[in-house]
Amino acid sequence: MLEAMANATMGDDVYEEDSTTTEFQREIARLTGMEDAIFMLSGTMGNQIGVRVHLNQPPHSVLCDYRAHVYAEEGSGLAVLSQAMVTPVHPANGIYLTLKDVKKWVILGDDIHTAPTKVISLELTIGGVLTPMEEIQKISEFAHANDIKVHCDGARLWNASAASGYSLADYCKYFDTVSMCVSKGLGAPIGGVLASTKSNIKQARWLRKQQGGGIRQAGVLTSAAMVALKEVWPTMKQTHEKAKKLETDLAALGVVPQIPVDTNFFFIDAGRSKIEMGVLLEQCKKFDVKLMDERIALHHQISDEAIENLKAAIAEAVKITKDLPPGYVSKVQPAGYGGTSKMNEYS
Ligand SMILES: Cc1ncc(COP(=O)(O)O)c(C=O)c1O
Repeated sequence: MLEAMANATMGDDVYEEDSTTTEFQREIARLTGMEDAIFMLSGTMGNQIGVRVHLNQPPHSVLCDYRAHVYAEEGSGLAVLSQAMVTPVHPANGIYLTLKDVKKWVILGDDIHTAPTKVISLELTIGGVLTPMEEIQKISEFAHANDIKVHCDGARLWNASAASGYSLADYCKYFDTVSMCVSKGLGAPIGGVLASTKSNIKQARWLRKQQGGGIRQAGVLTSAAMVALKEVWPTMKQTHEKAKKLETDLAALGVVPQIPVDTNFFFIDAGRSKIEMGVLLEQCKKFDVKLMDERIALHHQISDEAIENLKAAIAEAVKITKDLPPGYVSKVQPAGYGGTSKMNEYS
């Protein structure tokens, strides 16, 4: 990847003159089955612009899961950049949104008290969990029948595809815009990409420039993204297998996840696992494992040794927690909040 970056083309992508960037965008359009694509500096930029291209003038609202990154962790971007109200929905199954949830909370019609739903945003995967394809299809059909656009926060659509066997295009055909990250699981140093129709991408290019995201020597970044796509993505299945094995090993210690482990995340259910999180974080330091909160994230560079160290830290934390005096509060506290650590409101 570093070699590719060192040898990158140096065309000016603000004028769409960088061949690697153009090639990368074409490859994403091909993989997603969309007409066009545009490189973004981050997943946040891809999401915010992806939603923004569907919205004109308020009052309007975006319906999404209450844990969705686009709503909970993008610095109130929907309010600031799109002047959008948000309907954050708690899925009835506690795991992923269904058409039933959408129908219950969608705002239709022209009652002047309301901000009608103009975009439904689905995060795939959400907390590493797969949403069944039939559910995506049903939500998309309902949305389109009601003149609502559907955006996919597909930061981890790569994982969804690797785990489910569906292609990116199988997923993307149900969406009007799809934002994906090339950092995170794909391992590039920077960036994301937004795919959609030609006219939406044209508008997105304008908005990206407005937000300071017009990158001149973009080839340095898209050459790395290309390597991520070709070399890291194919390893994702193995990472998922490691997460599954971790789940089995932790179950033997009485440690259970908050939500299903479908891909690369294991969210520790500290309550049900009888683990004091502060104690676990102290143990992780001892065993040289970097953990911030309940979310364990695996990726292609995490060694088997690191996973063994993590398991040893968790085993110690379980033992120590058993003997803690009632009301014990550790000096170390998890950094997590909302979507990064609490994926199940009941755990
Ligand atoms: C689901 C999801 N969407 C979007 C983003 C935003 O990506 P970035 O950090 O590149 O802005 C993240 C980041 O963690 C994410 O988890």
